[in-house]
Parts: sequence; structure tokens; C-alpha cells
Amino acid sequence: MSEKNPYRYNGDSLVVENNTDKNNTKSVYIESYGCAMNFSDSEIVASILSENGYKTSDDLYSADLILVNTCSIREKAELTVRKRLEKFNKVRKSNSKVKVGVLGCMAERLKHKFLEEEKIVDMVVGPDAYKDLPNLLEEIDDGKSAVNVILSKDETYGDITPTRINSNGVNAFISITRGCDNMCTFCVVPFTRGRERSRDPQSIIEELNDLNIKGFKEITLLGQNVDSYLWYGGGLKKDFSKASEIQKASSINFAKLLEMCALTQPKMRIRFSTSNPQDMSLDVIRVMAKYENICNYIHLPVQSGSDSVLKAMNRQHTRAEYIKLIEDIFKIIPDCSISHDMISGFPNESEQDHKDTLSLMELVKYSFGYMFKYSERPGTPAAKKLEDNIDEKTKSRRLSEIVELQQKHSLYRSKEFIGKTVEVLIEKESKKSNLHWAGRNQQNTTVVFPKENYNIGDFVNVKINSCTSATLVGDAIGFSKNN
Ligand code: 5AD
Ligand code: SF4
Repeated sequence: MSEKNPYRYNGDSLVVENNTDKNNTKSVYIESYGCAMNFSDSEIVASILSENGYKTSDDLYSADLILVNTCSIREKAELTVRKRLEKFNKVRKSNSKVKVGVLGCMAERLKHKFLEEEKIVDMVVGPDAYKDLPNLLEEIDDGKSAVNVILSKDETYGDITPTRINSNGVNAFISITRGCDNMCTFCVVPFTRGRERSRDPQSIIEELNDLNIKGFKEITLLGQNVDSYLWYGGGLKKDFSKASEIQKASSINFAKLLEMCALTQPKMRIRFSTSNPQDMSLDVIRVMAKYENICNYIHLPVQSGSDSVLKAMNRQHTRAEYIKLIEDIFKIIPDCSISHDMISGFPNESEQDHKDTLSLMELVKYSFGYMFKYSERPGTPAAKKLEDNIDEKTKSRRLSEIVELQQKHSLYRSKEFIGKTVEVLIEKESKKSNLHWAGRNQQNTTVVFPKENYNIGDFVNVKINSCTSATLVGDAIGFSKNN
């Protein structure tokens, strides 16, 4: 594995190894695993550390501090992190000055194991405790171990300007909510990231404006459940009912926030992720339709097409309700692309349940999909109450069928663009050819085209000539009016 390449896909999740250069005296090497939220958090950590004398480095072997921002969502993600920790421990043993810290979702569950039993790290810090890092670092500098995994009711890091590390200068994340109250029975997130809370909209708009000044062209509003965003002056989402009438009347929901962002920076593209079917309102879809700079793409996980599995997952929506939502989306935004998350082999999933998943996919014809085998997570309601009783072979076979069908649908959706002109924001050089640019259209499909005189960060109209299931290929016909 290269220690230099900042962006890698490890087969399970995106991995970013961060690097910035400030005039700080100590250096920190940060590796991030898992969801976009973790990447965004690593930028918050880098910012907090840069105020405390640390510059980020991409050289593992010369760093004073090694941090790994961990993911617990599936067992495979945890195993990947564990392997890296073994490697980091070797570096730590070869140089007693080097300290290793675990951040993120594995912190709470594995703190004793890492610190006391295996003694492979010096510090364990949960997702809500990053502001405590300066104190924790002092403790480990004194040779002690340090831990803070306390989950917060109100921490949103709204007052921290993330350090954009290894950024292409074009796309950036803005975190808007933290935690999740949904309690899907399979999911560890409510336990690792705590209760849902929303960030002050003013600080979101300030971050958006700051990114604009710095030249960024596209932002993604991030949260485990963005449609559930609700600002009423601070505090947990679940305590909204206790808010005063004035607070309730002046509250800001996701539709309003999205509109504020679109209006504040009409030349920047706005994306958001992740949406949950039961929380996505028609207002949000109407706001998307109203503003050209909000991208016509919704990541709308469903997890299963079977009502009985959805119920056992505590998904709080039925198959019919989900289909109705999809119909509403296509009615209001006909060219919207939609992606899903799907889990194969949830406990007691029958062959018919699996067929229901395939038939839902046939109905929607998703543009993209993120597909997983069920992985029992310790402490979750599913792990406590349901036996992980679908054998590995069946889980894998069902997953392959889901993946194969998705590939067919992705190709079907890609082909819809042939002959059309789409607006592309150029993000990077094409992986396959240094004569081509790569970017995405509004619908989030990758588009590749000859570079000509265009540059990274340009909005370009591209006529699509051919495609694969994952990529559109075309020719630029000029700058878009957004440029
Ligand atoms: N097993 C498999 N997949 C899971 N996900 C969350 N928890 C699990 C689990 N225990 C998937 C869901 C979710 C995505 C982020 O990860 O599909 O939407
Ligand atoms: Fe997990 Fe469900 Fe919350 Fe997504 S919505 S983070 S799957 S509990």
C-alpha cells in the first residue's frame, strides 16, 4: 500500500490520507476510513491541531502523531483499521516519541481493548470530543494514555473552520447535522455518533461563503440524515417538542436551509447526503426543482424492498411509501438521478424478500447503488434480538444478484444521456488518460472529455457520445453559463 497516494478505495470505503503544510513544529499523519462524515471530521481535527502546533504530513514515518479516524459500520471496515493499527504500532515501537491515536466510531466500543488490553495506542477520542484533543495530547506527552469518548448533546463544531486537506480546491463538504435518531436495527451509528443535533445555519452559510472566497465550486451538505435537519436555537432534535413557541416559529428545517444555501451562492453547486425516505419532504424536492444550482441527485437508501424486512430493520417506511416518494421525485424533477444503499442477507430474509428487493430495483432503475452484505454489529438491536441466520453463501449470492442488476440499471441510466448536452464541473484528470478531464454532471455521473483549453474548476457543457455503466464520454462544446 502506498503511503503517498492521498485518495484510495480499499474495496470497502474511501480512504484519504491527509496533508497540509503550515509553519507548525510538530507533524500529524491522519488516515480516514468510512463515510464522508469521517473525512469531514478529519478536516475539523486537522484544524484543531493546527491551532495547537501541528502541521499535517503525508509521511507516516516522520510524523510525531499518527491518527486514524475509524469506521465501525461493517466488520470489514473494522478489520481494515485493525490491520493499519498493527502497522502503526510497529512504527510507535520503533520510535518512542511517536504517539498513536484512534478517532471516530471505533473509539467507544474498543477503547479498553486498544488502550488497556492490547496497549497498541496512546489515545482514544470519540467523534464528539475533538475539541479536547489539546488536553489529551498533553496527557500523552506526559507518558500517560488518554481517552475521551463522551457523546455530546450540542457539539456540532460549527465554530471551527475545517482545514481543507488534500483538497482539489473544487469540491468541499459542509457538515450540517451530527448523530442519528433513526435506530435502524442493524446500524451502529446511533451508538457511535450519538443523538441527532443540527448546526447553526449562520455558521453553515459563513462556511459556504468562505469556501466561495477560496474558489470552491461545489459543496455537499453532510449528515447521517440531512432531511431531518432542524435548527431551533441548538439542542437535540428529540427535544424540539420542548422548545418555546418563538423557537418553534423561527425554526429552520432542511428545505429552508437548502434554499438559503442556493440563494446565498447561486453560482456554486449544492449537493446533499444522506436522505432518509421517512424524513424527505416534498418541500425539499420543490426547492431542488426551483434552484438550478441544487444538483438533481438524491441518495435515498432503502436497504430492502420487502416490507417484513423493512419492519425488522425498523426503517419507519413501507415499500409503498418509498415508491410513492420516488414517484413524487420523478414527477417534480423528471431528470433526477437516485441512488440507493441495499443490504443482502438481513436476519430471516427469505428468497421472496430478496426477490422483492430485486423487483423494487426494477421499478426504480436507480442510477447508482451502494450494496452490502449484512454484517452483525455488536450492541445493535438486530444483534441483540435476531440471529444472523442467513449463511454466507446465500448472502453473497443475493448480493451478486443485486450488484448485477444495478450494473444493468446504471448502464440504462447512462445511455439516457447519449446525444444530450450536460453541464460538467471539472474536478481532475481522467484516471485513464492524461489528455482527458473528468468531472460530474448534476446527476452525479462521471463525465470524461478531451481537455482542450479547459481547466479544473471550470463549468463546461459536454455533448455525450458514448458511455459505460459508470462513465459518460463526450466532447466539450463551450463554457456553461454558470462559469
Ligand atoms: N451491515 C451491512 N450494511 C450496513 N450498513 C449500515 N449498517 C450495516 C450493517 N450492519 C449500510 C447501510 C447504510 C450504509 C451507510 O451502510 O446500507 O445505509
Ligand atoms: Fe444508521 Fe439508519 Fe441512521 Fe442511516 S438512518 S445512520 S442506517 S440508523
